[in-house]
Amino acid sequence: MDQAANLRRLATERDRSSASLLEPEQESSRIEGEVPAEVAEETSNEPVTTRVIAVTSGKGGVGKSTLSVNLAISIAKLGKKVLLFDGDLGLANINVLMGIIPEHNIYEVIKGKKKVQDIVISTSYGIDIIAGANGISQLANLSDTQRETFVEQLGELSGYDVMMIDTGAGVGANVIGLVMPADDILVVTTPEPTAITDAYGMIKSIVANGKEKSIKLIVNRVPSAIEAKRVADRLISISSQFLKTKVESVGFVFEENLVQKSIRSQRPHVVLYPGSKSSACMSHIAARVMNTAPAEDSIGIFGFFQKLLGIGQDSEPGMGVL
Ligand SMILES: Nc1ncnc2c1ncn2[C@@H]1O[C@H](COP(=O)(O)OP(=O)(O)OP(=O)(O)O)[C@@H](O)[C@H]1O
Ligand SMILES: [Mg+2]
Repeated sequence: MDQAANLRRLATERDRSSASLLEPEQESSRIEGEVPAEVAEETSNEPVTTRVIAVTSGKGGVGKSTLSVNLAISIAKLGKKVLLFDGDLGLANINVLMGIIPEHNIYEVIKGKKKVQDIVISTSYGIDIIAGANGISQLANLSDTQRETFVEQLGELSGYDVMMIDTGAGVGANVIGLVMPADDILVVTTPEPTAITDAYGMIKSIVANGKEKSIKLIVNRVPSAIEAKRVADRLISISSQFLKTKVESVGFVFEENLVQKSIRSQRPHVVLYPGSKSSACMSHIAARVMNTAPAEDSIGIFGFFQKLLGIGQDSEPGMGVL
């Protein structure tokens, strides 16, 4: 059995575990925000296949990291085991948002000085995190065997229902490389015209780079549900018309001072202000996301990293982050 086949076996065994955009909208669709249907219960004792969810955006600063942290915690509150991976290769700040100082980093794992378990931080918020992926670019300097050994180690990260990845902004190769292997892609925008057009640019890139992907939309920092609906409807209809792609709105988050206040105190707002409007929005989004069917070809964390690093049969050359 060659190495690639061996890795695939491990994967299954271990980890089964533009202008028109801004025009007024004519069509209507359901206003988001109501309490969604119940999240499907997991009843079997089958090994978990981790659902890999990437959070991305076209424009920077629209709230991806804040959303990733609070959404991960909200999904955990639904009884799911969640790993939050900071995939912003430039300015990693998940740990800052959570008031955590990491002791070890992914670079030490790459160098073989630490085990992957050593960089997983259990938080008091009910989720585990892997802070700062900066070192991942070092993977480019490793031999094939070293890369495979590294990915094999990541395969040890089994047992999670969800791995959420906070990415950087923009349609650069690094971000697209991280986003494409994910099962679900959450595109975040705000109602600002520039954020909307950049979100469309991101959706366009996702479509250009891949086959069928589950693209979900979150409109952050909205003054009202009506405004969120206007933005979502516009992006959904333009993506359908020009990209022949279905984009699904999974909710919105209100613009709220409490969100900024919680960032300053380095504690997630769903923890600090659970009764706030923005926290209710997060619960709705968490349930909506988990209530959608996972990708049929989901291959979990191990498969994600295989694809990311261009290892294995299904990986598409040039798709890797490196
Ligand atoms: N719902 C909200 N209400 C009020 N302010 C918000 C909200 N969401 C985000 N913000 C503000 O937006 C800022 C940027 O958020 P965040 O760092 O999460 O964005 P980002 O998309 O991860 O940025 P980058 O592209 O640099 O990674 C926050 O520091 C906060 O001040
Ligand atoms: Mg960020």
